Amino acid sequence: MTSHRWDPAQYLRFGDERTRPLVDLLARIPVDARTVVDLGCGAGNDVPPLRARWPGAAIHGVDSSEEMIERAQHEAADARTTFEVGDAASWRATGDVPDVILSNAMYQWIDGHIDLLPGVADQAGAAFAFQVPGNQDAPSHALLRRTAAECGVTGYRSIDVRDPAEYLERLTRPGWTVDVWETTYLHVLQGPDAVFEWISGTGARPVLARLDGAPRERFVERYKAALDEAYPPREFGTVLPFRRIFAVASRA
Ligand SMILES: C[S@@+](CC[C@H](N)C(=O)[O-])C[C@H]1O[C@@H](n2cnc3c(N)ncnc32)[C@H](O)[C@@H]1O
Repeated sequence: MTSHRWDPAQYLRFGDERTRPLVDLLARIPVDARTVVDLGCGAGNDVPPLRARWPGAAIHGVDSSEEMIERAQHEAADARTTFEVGDAASWRATGDVPDVILSNAMYQWIDGHIDLLPGVADQAGAAFAFQVPGNQDAPSHALLRRTAAECGVTGYRSIDVRDPAEYLERLTRPGWTVDVWETTYLHVLQGPDAVFEWISGTGARPVLARLDGAPRERFVERYKAALDEAYPPREFGTVLPFRRIFAVASRA
């Protein structure tokens, strides 16, 4: 389970940019679905693209954050959409086999998730698909680690993301067709401290959760300054290159 709380409002500030990879993932899932399970479903923002892809499907969202599920139930519940607080690391399909199991931007938070993937795929009747950010070596994350070390923050949780080839190898088994790729989006973010605002809704949360009061202010000030240098604001906005890794495994 995640050890830090999620803030749905902060996370959803960049809703369009965060949803885009899901739309691109869905476009490559080559099956019809009557039942879909969304692991790490978040605040309900996955539902519109899922509905657009499979209008009649029953959608079941699972997320370990009570805050995210509460928001999803409030914003996105309809007669064919259900949500559950649960840990994707131990989640098992109960009852009917879902046609599709998918996950957008969640597996990076489960250490060693690569070992879970074939077992999750086996629980899907037709396809298993996921997307994870591949930006752990980007300046935003290198500066996060450096500033955290300078401010004496240690022992915080870091993300686990593997090479695309590893995902391909692990999911390729008899009877499965596997499609793995990566994309770097050039997000153009608006407003002051745009990259800080983006990352404080996701990757920087484990560090921020360890800080309070003056030490937190010191960290935020240094990190914002470092990000500002690495991602200078331009007239049209601040460009954040963001690499993402996609995998779709479907049964032949
Ligand atoms: C970056 S958000 C992605 C949310 C949504 N899928 C989207 O694309 O906008 C990651 C989500 O994964 C959830 N999460 C993290 N670890 C989890 C776990 N072990 N089991 C279930 N959900 C988890 C978090 O609570 C959070 O809502």
